[in-house]
Amino acid sequence: MQPMLSIQNLTKTYAGGNCALSDVNLDVAKGEILALLGPNGAGKTTMISIICGIVTATSGKVLVGGYDNVRDYRQARSLIGLVPQELTTDAFETPWDNLSFSRGLFGLPSNPALVEKVLKDLSLWDKKDSRIMTLSGGMKRRLLIAKALVHEPKVLFLDEPTAGVDVELRQDMWRLVKEMQEQGVTVVLTTHYIEEAEAIADRVGIINAGKLVLVEDKTALMANMGQKQLQIDLKAPLNSLPDSLQALGFSLQKKGWQLLLKYQGNDKQVEVGAMLAAVYAAGIEVADIHTAQSSLEEIFIELLQEGS
Ligand SMILES: Nc1ncnc2c1ncn2[C@@H]1O[C@H](COP(=O)(O)OP(=O)(O)OP(=O)(O)O)[C@@H](O)[C@H]1O
Ligand SMILES: [Mg+2]
Repeated sequence: MQPMLSIQNLTKTYAGGNCALSDVNLDVAKGEILALLGPNGAGKTTMISIICGIVTATSGKVLVGGYDNVRDYRQARSLIGLVPQELTTDAFETPWDNLSFSRGLFGLPSNPALVEKVLKDLSLWDKKDSRIMTLSGGMKRRLLIAKALVHEPKVLFLDEPTAGVDVELRQDMWRLVKEMQEQGVTVVLTTHYIEEAEAIADRVGIINAGKLVLVEDKTALMANMGQKQLQIDLKAPLNSLPDSLQALGFSLQKKGWQLLLKYQGNDKQVEVGAMLAAVYAAGIEVADIHTAQSSLEEIFIELLQEGS
């Protein structure tokens, strides 16, 4: 199936020679949620700005719904909704007018019911007639999200949508994004909150110094790259580790009260059942067992260190 978004050999060198993106290739399928992670200055906003037609690429090509974002820019842009990283809103307007007018700009017929739904979804209904300048920072960010949603986009770009917002909006936003996905909308978001990527993304892309270092299915990424731990609490402490367990890679922790085994998530040699059998075979009585997996955050930091 044709991807909803296709980025081909995209490179951007800003005036002054700053290379912000270097030969990026990426396809995103219809209805997919992709999270882009990367440190400050990695090129995330540059990539989104090029796709949305705000910044021109130095070379390369972007197709949105099959439309070239330069040659067929009207069709391409009509499919796009953007929640920008920087807050720019019209101070004197009200949320209601701003959203209603915004649809008109995209050549869409007015739809008060949708404007009402979006305002309610983002807890802005009681502010619909207030001047935007009287809203708090978090409310203004909610309004930016609302503005992207009233266009009923097919591809939604969220550039750090939850930076500086409260826990409640973060969860409202995650729910809205999932809802849009159910309607077939493709979502690309950037975030510095790794738990955000962990919570909603299907795939994770890691971008560092203008290069897309990796794009992988989130679950596979966590399973393949992650460290796993098997912790076995003992009924009685051990003075020393039996040789048979040492040979399997166990270490003794917590003053002899715990056996610990660390292994790569993709290591097929490590079978928890067999490990437990070895513990029983050594005549050790088990009180409790836990397994733990390293988080996406730990994997992310490791990957960035490898790449630098
Ligand atoms: N208009 C511009 N002119 C020149 N250089 C720019 C411009 N905009 C961005 N850059 C540079 O391009 C690089 C990538 O910036 P970009 O804003 O895309 O990063 P980012 O990944 O979005 O970072 P952040 O996480 O801080 O938002 C940086 O080195 C930045 O200084
Ligand atoms: Mg940015």
